[in-house]
Amino acid sequence: MGADLEAALAGVVGRDQLFVGEAIGEHYRVDISRRYSSKPAFLARPASTEQVAAIIKLAAAHDLPVTVVGGQTGTVGGAVPADGGLALSLERMNRIVEIDPLSMTMTVEAGCILQLAQEAAEAQQTFLPLDLGSRGSATIGGTIAANAGGNRVLRWGMMRDMVLGLEAVLADGTVVSSLSKMLKDNAGYNWKHLLIGSEGTLGVVTRAVLRLRPAPSTRQTALVAMGSFEDAVRALHRLDVGLSGRLSSFELMWRDFFARMTEAQLDRRPRPMALDHPIYALVEAMGGDPEGDAAQFERVLAGLLEDGLLTDAVIAQSEREADALWAPRDDMQGGLAPLRPFVAYDVSMGLGDMPRFVTQAESQLKAAFPQAVILFYGHAGDSNLHAVLSVGEMNPQIQRALDEIVYGAVREVNGSIAAEHGIGVSRARFLPWTRTPAELDLMRTLKAALDPRDILNRGKLLDALDAPAAAADGG
Ligand code: LAC
Ligand code: ZN
Repeated sequence: MGADLEAALAGVVGRDQLFVGEAIGEHYRVDISRRYSSKPAFLARPASTEQVAAIIKLAAAHDLPVTVVGGQTGTVGGAVPADGGLALSLERMNRIVEIDPLSMTMTVEAGCILQLAQEAAEAQQTFLPLDLGSRGSATIGGTIAANAGGNRVLRWGMMRDMVLGLEAVLADGTVVSSLSKMLKDNAGYNWKHLLIGSEGTLGVVTRAVLRLRPAPSTRQTALVAMGSFEDAVRALHRLDVGLSGRLSSFELMWRDFFARMTEAQLDRRPRPMALDHPIYALVEAMGGDPEGDAAQFERVLAGLLEDGLLTDAVIAQSEREADALWAPRDDMQGGLAPLRPFVAYDVSMGLGDMPRFVTQAESQLKAAFPQAVILFYGHAGDSNLHAVLSVGEMNPQIQRALDEIVYGAVREVNGSIAAEHGIGVSRARFLPWTRTPAELDLMRTLKAALDPRDILNRGKLLDALDAPAAAADGG
């Protein structure tokens, strides 16, 4: 990499915001899977969209791959920079530009941390519904690039459903901007949806207009237990209608997962429910009727208990108790630490197919790895299942064997291998197990049209499928 390029990059962002080689901190070179790490040549921390555009123009002229780095809370290597490439951190572009309480929108820069955006909305009596365990580090830009989901998708949708307007820099440095506040806008191709969920391969998101909701004034939380998966699905449907559309979370936890996660909390709080049920769920509702909401919640749960769909229920009596019920589900890193090294999956399928998937994956895993620890949990309301697998050691062969069993079982039920965490590097070789050749060709056409020189997030997604050697694949 020439000194010319370095000087030109420094000319854009300032010498103090350009880091070279060894001076680039570890945060910018890994993600939380810790399966990939890289040696980018540069880290640039621009302060404006104009600076981002100037950097991308330089990168395009010098064939320098650019990867946007954010909270690095991804799990599939998607935001790990290319060796010799440029890591682009938007952490200085973190302003909440505007909250418009009448239009119910927030205009925000991509580097803003999700939790700060949530809190800013709350301070204006509005509500940004996107919520995930990594809210304290994930950025708005990252959650858009990944089309993040999380714990409240069943009511308010994924990030895609909250992005009204977008500003982005394309691979040739063009700034495209449609910072509109409208829910409806059918004037031609809605290009923002191409960028949302594209994992940084089609453009660099610099700013967004997000849809806010009126802040709910009540929250009811319960931990419930069910005798079977089928009963859990029936309970979900009854809650959905019984709570008049106020149901915001239904987080399923199979017994082994619940046992481990609550075990890890025992030094701080007692286990909220005995371990003698096959399946548990965290249920949450939000509403606006302080008189009626709690009573309605209790009535619906009581009805489910009476009908035998629930085998037990604990209703939080305070915000503190609600947070305590969520704690085992939220502190994934703490609960899973003893299982390291483990692999985490996020797959989706029709709810009706989930039992077949679980049975097939479990029996094949046990046959291949009798010592395997297999934990299932997930956002059942969104047909999204997580699995965590630990077999005591990990290497590329074991990883591949596990992937083939899990994704093979997904293929059997026509599911998706990536419900919310994306493809990145680690899942690329299995894309054809979940997308048809025609779909993959369409994706290649889009990539070639928008980024013909393959500047943006080189080595990820299609690259990692088509030219795996170019990908920083640990396995
Ligand atoms: C969760 C993350 C792993 O649901 O997606 O906990
Ligand atoms: Zn999840």
